[in-house]
Amino acid sequence: MADQQTSPAGPDLSLGVVLSEFSGAILLGHVGDEDVLLVRSGSEIFAIDAHCSHYHGPLAEGLVVGESIRCPWHHACFDLRTGEAARAPALNSLAVWKVEHEGDRIFVRQKREQPKPRVEGVVDAPARIVIVGGGAAGFAAAEMLRRQDYRGSIVMLSNEAAAPVDRPNLSKDYLAGSAPEDWLPLRAEEFYADAGIDLRLGTEAASIDTRARDVVLADGKTIPYDRLLLATGAEPVRLPFPGADQPHVHVLRSLADCRAIIASASGARRAVVIGASFIGLEAAAALRARDIEVHVVGLEQRPMERVLGQEMGDFVRALHEEHGVIFHLGDTVTSIDGKRATLRSGGVIEADVVVVGVGVRPRLALAEKAGLAIDRGVAVDAYLETSIPGIYAAGDIARWPDAHSGQAIRVEHWVVAERQGQTAARNMLGQREVFDAVPFFWSQHYDVPINYVGHAEKWDEIAVDGSIAARDCLLRYKISGRVLAVASIYRDVASLEAELAMERATR
Ligand SMILES: Cc1cc2nc3c(=O)[nH]c(=O)nc-3n(C[C@H](O)[C@H](O)[C@H](O)COP(=O)(O)OP(=O)(O)OC[C@H]3O[C@@H](n4cnc5c(N)ncnc54)[C@H](O)[C@@H]3O)c2cc1C
Ligand code: FES
Repeated sequence: MADQQTSPAGPDLSLGVVLSEFSGAILLGHVGDEDVLLVRSGSEIFAIDAHCSHYHGPLAEGLVVGESIRCPWHHACFDLRTGEAARAPALNSLAVWKVEHEGDRIFVRQKREQPKPRVEGVVDAPARIVIVGGGAAGFAAAEMLRRQDYRGSIVMLSNEAAAPVDRPNLSKDYLAGSAPEDWLPLRAEEFYADAGIDLRLGTEAASIDTRARDVVLADGKTIPYDRLLLATGAEPVRLPFPGADQPHVHVLRSLADCRAIIASASGARRAVVIGASFIGLEAAAALRARDIEVHVVGLEQRPMERVLGQEMGDFVRALHEEHGVIFHLGDTVTSIDGKRATLRSGGVIEADVVVVGVGVRPRLALAEKAGLAIDRGVAVDAYLETSIPGIYAAGDIARWPDAHSGQAIRVEHWVVAERQGQTAARNMLGQREVFDAVPFFWSQHYDVPINYVGHAEKWDEIAVDGSIAARDCLLRYKISGRVLAVASIYRDVASLEAELAMERATR
């Protein structure tokens, strides 16, 4: 999704607004050429930047909850008093403005000095925190540690060559060629030095000595820790068919993977995407944007059916077909000989580039070797602590007790990983914060965003509100009448309300 710049909208707030004319919760206006929101919360009125610091989402279309506002696009949340990005995926705070009352008018003329975020009382400040993983959870944890005023040492190990990037973009705008590479880093290079985060790229953590409290690197060096966060993410599944190791056959997880796909795609006429789920279909859409003929080969009968159900699956298929994607469902690739990809059904597709997007496996080797409790992921408690005190896990590897579904679940979602990183950070500092965020993910297909809150591995009913075909719908996934999850297209407020209802049901 592109960062959209808009021209100032609504009334000029520096000229004042008559209080009686501001009857709702949110009023979009501007001060000079900056869009500013007036937000009513209880008896107070706040003024805050109007666009989300994640992808510039329109907060005027969001939801006010207490003294916060939630973004309609990917459910970030901002504190109205301080502007702090209280919930990922936004990490940067927003400017807050001074609200002046004069007679029956309110005026907004200048920004307030950015108040410091509210920091909880730190009861325990370990000297050395080590984070293994330079992805969503690892980065969000490091950033949160510094936001919490943590002054001790942070070492962040990543075996990737690049500093943490906006991974979701790798199958969307960046792969499509519509986002420049400088949009990808989660923070500029100098952030790490400025924040005193010792980011070590190209560094493999080989094992953990839990007695000595050392992380042992592949080169034998050791890094001592008082608290350790494992955020090693997941590894794309590689199919073992003959020819899978050729240079034009790719998986997609890292920036390096994405650059390699883009290099193979340049001048390519035809692509085969293996896998008809999220990564595969987003990659298919991105390659179509490069005017490449795209064939999607998938074992399933309907794309995304397992997660979104039949009707949504049919819609997603039709949407991609409208954009020229050719599906080969109930089928798979059995070998690739040069450019010739042979299908199990017997067909052959000549492809210049192949993307394999058939799912991921959590990277558990470190945790297993260290003797941490494993349960189809790293088992953590409600505080994200593993079976060994002082070692936490977050993101794609972590299986946590989810209060909403009542099950121990592990999900592979960007926002969940970041929020877990943030909770783990606070807990490594001695706070006892239960991780109770409602899982959220989004997926983008051409101009159609699909938002999903909650978690439903199975359901006995899907109640559809609105029209999927008209791209205006809300689907409730239920078991015995209880809503476990909600998927939506262009029903952003309803999606935010569903998230809030799920939160309130368990608190
Ligand atoms: C292309 C793509 C698009 C996606 N789009 C979406 C989306 O639209 N919405 C959504 O909700 N989710 C999306 N996801 C999923 C989302 O990116 C993941 O859920 C999220 O990145 C998980 O965060 P993490 O920190 O657990 O793992 P990661 O972000 O994968 O980070 C793990 C890090 O650990 C490093 N590491 C692993 N082992 C070691 C080791 N032994 N030593 C040192 N470093 C190590 C890895 O190299 C990596 O840097 C997408 C994923 C991909 C790949
Ligand atoms: S644009 Fe606001 S959360 Fe993504």
